Amino acid sequence: MTSSPSPRPAPIAMADVTAARARIRPHLPASPAMSYPLLDDLVGHGIRVWVKHENHLPVNTFKVRNATSALTALLARDPAAAARGVAAASTGNHGQGLAWAGARLGIPVTICVPEGNNPEKSAVIRSYGARLVETGATYDDAIARCDELVATEALTRIHSTNNVDVLAGAGTMTAEFLEQVPALDAIILALGGGSQCVGAIVARSDMQPALEVYAVQSEGASAQHDAWRDGVARVGQAVHTFAEGIATGSTYELTVDALRDGLTDFVLVSEDDIAQGVRDLLRITHNVAEGAGATGLAGLRALAPRLAGKTVGIVLCGGNLDAGRLKTILEGGTP
Ligand SMILES: Cc1ncc(COP(=O)(O)O)c(C=O)c1O
Repeated sequence: MTSSPSPRPAPIAMADVTAARARIRPHLPASPAMSYPLLDDLVGHGIRVWVKHENHLPVNTFKVRNATSALTALLARDPAAAARGVAAASTGNHGQGLAWAGARLGIPVTICVPEGNNPEKSAVIRSYGARLVETGATYDDAIARCDELVATEALTRIHSTNNVDVLAGAGTMTAEFLEQVPALDAIILALGGGSQCVGAIVARSDMQPALEVYAVQSEGASAQHDAWRDGVARVGQAVHTFAEGIATGSTYELTVDALRDGLTDFVLVSEDDIAQGVRDLLRITHNVAEGAGATGLAGLRALAPRLAGKTVGIVLCGGNLDAGRLKTILEGGTP
């Protein structure tokens, strides 16, 4: 399980990432890449840390790249389908990204969430004019309702991971990061569905083949990690993490092989480590990271002895943390 060349084709190629960059450029600015001496001190081992501030993009996360890539591709490929609208089941960043991109591009967006979804997140989705369908008790109920709406209203489903345009959009983040910091030796990414890591693996292959790509999950939601280690796909494995962006219990068809072939390593961190990451990023960068947006830092601290002396990139995202959880973390707790 190293970054050795794979006989299996990747789900996307660098040309797809390049095309996605051209499509999203009119809509999304480059996000800043910043370094902080205090963060270097915290991580230690002579590591130079670069933070990609994806929290400075609309809806505070790279997921807006994925959504904008997918919707601009749909608009170019099938304007009639785009006019009918798109749908997804998502309680968080994917839904928010689609809502933002749909408003920007004039594409109707329907987001299905379970009843009782976090009101702060539902408010963000609605604020961009998306139709929010609250249905059932669980995420699976929301997926079932989304399936019905896709069928009855001829909507286009935009899956958060199993969609090549979504993956290409995620790849634009690493491509941009490598242009900003060509010296990067490694990048450490929180992994949920795997779009961000697969995007990095593809961008690396063309721009900086020596770049090491590390994935990080919470010990409480380790399905993808476990599958990467033992080669057995997972469906519906238990998920206990406050880092909702990476609260994934399953592997995904389009990313599982590319992750297996391309990741340098895959590590787990504790919920306490993630909460500490949120506190450290706030103290040092004065940016609010959500759990998944601080997981890269938590992973870096776990990997630091192995990365001694290297230049390492992490990604800060911030859209998914509600005030109650933030308060708990700031008081020194773990939600
Ligand atoms: C903030 C944040 N980080 C990381 C991830 C995981 O990304 P991926 O699904 O591409 O693995 C997500 C997914 O929603 C996210 O919202």
